[in-house]
Amino acid sequence: MFNFCLCLALIMLLGCSKKRTPLGNIPVPKMPDKVDLLPSVINVKYHEGVSGVDSCKSCHSEIHAEWQKSFHSKSTHSEAFKKQSDNFNFKGCVSCHAPEAPNFDANRPEARSWKVHEGVTCSACHVVGNRTLGTLGSNAPHRTFKEEKLRTELACISCHQQTVEQWRVSSFKEQNISCQQCHMPYKRRFISDFHKLYNKKDSRSHTFEIDFNNCLKLDLNVSKLTGQIQLKASNTGAGHSIPTGIYGDAALFLEFSVLKGSSVVFFREERLSSQDKTAIPVDGHRIFFYNFRAKPGEKYLVRARAIFNSSNYLEDKILDEIEQPLQTTMQDTQRKKFLLH
Ligand code: HEC
Ligand code: HEC
Ligand code: HEC
Ligand code: HEC
Ligand code: HEC
Repeated sequence: MFNFCLCLALIMLLGCSKKRTPLGNIPVPKMPDKVDLLPSVINVKYHEGVSGVDSCKSCHSEIHAEWQKSFHSKSTHSEAFKKQSDNFNFKGCVSCHAPEAPNFDANRPEARSWKVHEGVTCSACHVVGNRTLGTLGSNAPHRTFKEEKLRTELACISCHQQTVEQWRVSSFKEQNISCQQCHMPYKRRFISDFHKLYNKKDSRSHTFEIDFNNCLKLDLNVSKLTGQIQLKASNTGAGHSIPTGIYGDAALFLEFSVLKGSSVVFFREERLSSQDKTAIPVDGHRIFFYNFRAKPGEKYLVRARAIFNSSNYLEDKILDEIEQPLQTTMQDTQRKKFLLH
């Protein structure tokens, strides 16, 4: 507490002296990285006995509120995780779900033995020993160190290894569209609660949301040769396969049905997952064939839906849905011709 007050006093002092400077608008020389303008009175070191995310919350409340909405803050909350990790005793599970510090490489992080319920905390991505890593080189009351890897996929790889591998061979990498660009949208804002002492900064949201819109497209076609109906599912917007995660239970269901009037005369369902290696690949598509024998001259309606399902979400996410009339005609006595409008 004493440290905290001392630091606040120092920040105030600095803030005031800045305002009264006779230099007016003369630009202040840019401070080199790693120079502490304020002595690092706060040792932002994470260890047992130190209050975990709450210590960051006291000065970064907005980012903390975003993080709290994210699944990173809930990574040890599910019954499934509790049970499968033998009540948090299995370190092989805790390593990614409640890690000590970031790695920035493909090795799993060290498991944390304290405050496991706080999950993937601020320190899991930002604190190594007493070093607080950021990308801005700002002058904080705690020491900050510039870590450019935070801008890249190396900030995610230790826990999302397979997803990163998929991204690395994709057009998204070529276009420099990072994990952060999709899952941590850009935000200009105050990055700490000291709005009077610091300017707004270029930063990113910490809710780690997923924008499910326009990431998948369905198309229906009829093969002229075989008369089979083809359902094509294309990955149009995820920087990796759909679904991608191999650890959770995320699955994509493709429903295909043929209706005559209001009754379903044909129904098939696919369950696609990363574990089964059946996911829709990044930049790619998968085609499914259905042998529906249409009666000549009859009119049908073909319907297809792509549904994303994961125990993280209360409701299924409909990624795409299409409906098309199917008509069959007798062209001659030998050949049937199928038409899809
Ligand atoms: C220390 C390990 C770790 C790191 C580093 C990490 N994550 Fe995660 N992430 C997890 C875990 C564990 C979950 C699962 C949480 C849950 O669903 O309970 C998760 C979940 C997610 C989800 C939500 C999945 C869903 O079901 O909605 C997204 C999106 C995500 N992470 C993106 C990222 C990105 C982008 C990065 C890099 C900037 C990153 N993560 C870094 C461990 C990590
Ligand atoms: C006493 C208040 C205080 C506490 C506690 C605190 N911070 Fe900060 N932090 C700041 C201020 C002030 C800045 C600078 C804000 C700015 O530049 O606009 C900052 C900057 C940062 C940055 C940006 C570094 C850069 O320049 O790129 C990161 C990352 C960060 N803090 C993480 C944390 C984490 C993680 C914790 C908890 C372990 C924490 N902070 C605890 C006040 C605090
Ligand atoms: C899963 C990893 C992850 C977690 C958890 C996380 N952050 Fe970050 N944070 C990042 C990444 C990555 C960036 C940089 C994004 C960029 O600029 O590309 C960032 C940026 C920041 C920044 C802005 C400075 C900068 O370097 O861009 C602050 C401040 C910050 N985080 C604080 C926090 C606090 C406080 C918490 C906990 C409440 C937290 N972060 C949790 C990954 C994380
Ligand atoms: C072009 C935008 C985009 C990029 C880049 C991107 N994602 Fe995603 N991400 C999505 C979309 C859309 C979904 C929902 C569909 C899905 O599950 O694949 C998603 C879902 C996820 C999920 C949870 C759902 C699942 O299938 O398990 C995780 C975890 C995730 N992304 C992590 C990452 C990581 C890590 C990176 C960087 C290697 C990354 N994403 C890059 C758009 C993107
Ligand atoms: C290498 C990092 C890593 C390890 C090790 C790991 N997980 Fe996960 N886990 C994740 C990520 C990342 C997700 C989010 C889905 C995805 O991307 O696969 C996740 C999601 C989950 C989920 C679904 C979300 C939730 O919170 O309920 C469960 C359950 C789960 N893991 C259980 C386990 C168990 C049990 C173990 C140990 C046997 C384990 N995990 C080991 C990274 C890991």
